[in-house]
Amino acid sequence: MSSQYLGLATHVPRFEPPLTTYIAVSIACILPALLWGLTHVLALHSRQDKPEGCRKLGLSGKSHLVDEHDDRYKGAVEGQQNGAATWRVKSLWIYPIKSCRGVEVERGTIIGTGMEYDRQFSFAQLSGKFPVSANTPQEEKAKHTWKFITQRSLPPMATIKTEVWVPDPSSPTYSGWHPNVRSGGVLVIKFPRIQSDEGFMGKVKGILALVFDQAEREIHIPFNPTPEQIAQNGYAVDDMEIWKDRPRSLIVASTEKDDLWIQELRSYLGITNHFALFRVSTDDQPREVYRCAPRKEELGYQPTIGFQDAYPLHILNLASVRDVGSKLQKGAPPLSARNFRPNIVITGGGAYDEDSWKRIKIGGYQYYVSCRTVRCLLPNVNPITGQRHRSEPNRTLKDFRCIDAGDAKNACLGMQMVPALEDSQMQVGDEIKVLETGEHLYMKQ
Ligand SMILES: *[C@@H]1O[C@H](CO)[C@@H](O)[C@H](O)[C@H]1NC(C)=O
Repeated sequence: MSSQYLGLATHVPRFEPPLTTYIAVSIACILPALLWGLTHVLALHSRQDKPEGCRKLGLSGKSHLVDEHDDRYKGAVEGQQNGAATWRVKSLWIYPIKSCRGVEVERGTIIGTGMEYDRQFSFAQLSGKFPVSANTPQEEKAKHTWKFITQRSLPPMATIKTEVWVPDPSSPTYSGWHPNVRSGGVLVIKFPRIQSDEGFMGKVKGILALVFDQAEREIHIPFNPTPEQIAQNGYAVDDMEIWKDRPRSLIVASTEKDDLWIQELRSYLGITNHFALFRVSTDDQPREVYRCAPRKEELGYQPTIGFQDAYPLHILNLASVRDVGSKLQKGAPPLSARNFRPNIVITGGGAYDEDSWKRIKIGGYQYYVSCRTVRCLLPNVNPITGQRHRSEPNRTLKDFRCIDAGDAKNACLGMQMVPALEDSQMQVGDEIKVLETGEHLYMKQ
């Protein structure tokens, strides 16, 4: 039997593929699996599931600022009513983490501190005399302070993306007991992986990250952790210096605690000190707003802020941005309203009309326009790439927008506002009425 079989085999002509084909086919089959495995070994696989029980806050379609460079936003050209311009809300923004990429929304709730979810988090670095060791006297160590950081000194922060996921009863995974629901939602942070300066393995990682769509690191943080979640996660509390304030705040991640992702982010930003993500503490004294803001006697409540610079809301007239943009030096990139990190972008009237506003109504709600926004160098940072332009728009603004005697050496653009009520609503398209105009005099911190 067997010899017959063998005999047959020798007589039937067969196609014999060369050995190299076998090898090539084997490699083609195994390679994807091998690479996939490697991404795991290198811990590149960080894409996470969408937060359960929640929906993502913000626009799903195009930004309302896509047409911001259209000619019709150059000045007062939209519908005129009795000779007066009709102002409208064009675009609304929140910045969950101070100085990081914002989230554009269609509508928002305005609470005493500004837009809900705005500037509830901030990165900070430990500053003071270094190095510190176990033997350093306590007194010396105590001189170290957590100081907030911004794009002013670290432009690449503009590339740290943020998302807010809010509890949504219509989600199939929603339950009142779900941790994401109990924490009032989830903050999602995304930042580019380090690729360039890690030598050969860094390059391999970089290529694999791109091939497998893992070029971003993704982190989930409970938006407003409950006392149990604070205890469970071991979040500590410390003072964080922001301008002249030192609010006691919650540390939700820190290089002192070996949170791997925050070490990665620290090297991405090129920081060498200890580095942490803080959250506004709801248990501690909030930052109260005085200076040009209306007083409690007038408002009926004490205005406070999260990690905003100074006031709850920032409103920006697109016509003013366009006018500044038209005056920039040749070769400067087109100026976007986004460079100024507004909460509310408005259109309708002429450039700089807002300079003298004192009180306005947006939709059905009133706002006090407390003062002008004095600009620093931050608007020179491209809000998408995080590259800082060497001179613009600082130079042009300094040329003709030093208009406030309260800070005569600095340029102004945009206005700071305090909501008249602790609970109002706003949405894109809302009409704005100017109720009162007058003088402004900026008050420094
Ligand atoms: C901002 O512009 C002013 C006026 O041109 C200039 O004197 C100043 O040095 C600029 N600041 C920086 C840091 O470029």
